[in-house]
Amino acid sequence: MGVGFGGSSVFNRASPSSHAGCVARIVADYLQSPAAAPARILDIGGTANGFRAHAALPAGCQVVIANPEPGVGADYRFVSEIPQTVPGFDLAMLFGVIMYLPPDQLGILLHDVRQRLRGAGTLLIAEPDPEGLVGRAEIAFKTVFAAIKSLWDPTKFHFYTKAETTKLLHAAGFGSVRNRWDLTPNAMGAMPPPQPPYYVLAASI
Ligand SMILES: C[S@@+](CC[C@H](N)C(=O)[O-])C[C@H]1O[C@@H](n2cnc3c(N)ncnc32)[C@H](O)[C@@H]1O
Repeated sequence: MGVGFGGSSVFNRASPSSHAGCVARIVADYLQSPAAAPARILDIGGTANGFRAHAALPAGCQVVIANPEPGVGADYRFVSEIPQTVPGFDLAMLFGVIMYLPPDQLGILLHDVRQRLRGAGTLLIAEPDPEGLVGRAEIAFKTVFAAIKSLWDPTKFHFYTKAETTKLLHAAGFGSVRNRWDLTPNAMGAMPPPQPPYYVLAASI
């Protein structure tokens, strides 16, 4: 991997984790189950300054961060490094991350994440939508930016459409994939154009 953008760059403004309303709705929709044990969240590619810092979490709720980027406050580098003795998760998040992974690696990661979910756990994927004019401009911009920032080892991006991501989720064993476009800052009227919109998919077993 070349540049990682650190979870704090301009690229993330359309990510659900950067908008208080989206974070609050994710907490309300996926982490409020009074009868169950405190919820456990796996933030893949997250940072200590991201979702964990912004969410008003129910008591006892834990956020575990897996991110190989140095200095972002991660608990583990990769999901595959989380010991099997660590309890399962009720919610896993991949926000602005799958673009870093080629399809074979992404397939393995999705399969691993499915194994780490417990009960009626959900995986939320939020990703810049590469379709449409703004999406295509974003692809060009990111590709050039990565090449300039890291001339000898440019980040290789892999842009997935909603349909492609859905297909990979089904192949990894997720039976239900729902469109949650309402969880984007754009849907909450927060992002002025031409901010590239994200799509959000909620996958469960
Ligand atoms: C654009 S940032 C997203 C930050 C945050 N999730 C958000 O919504 O703002 C992408 C992050 O994904 C991380 N990443 C890339 N490949 C990863 C992998 N295989 N597992 C975990 N994190 C990864 C990078 O290190 C980088 O910090």
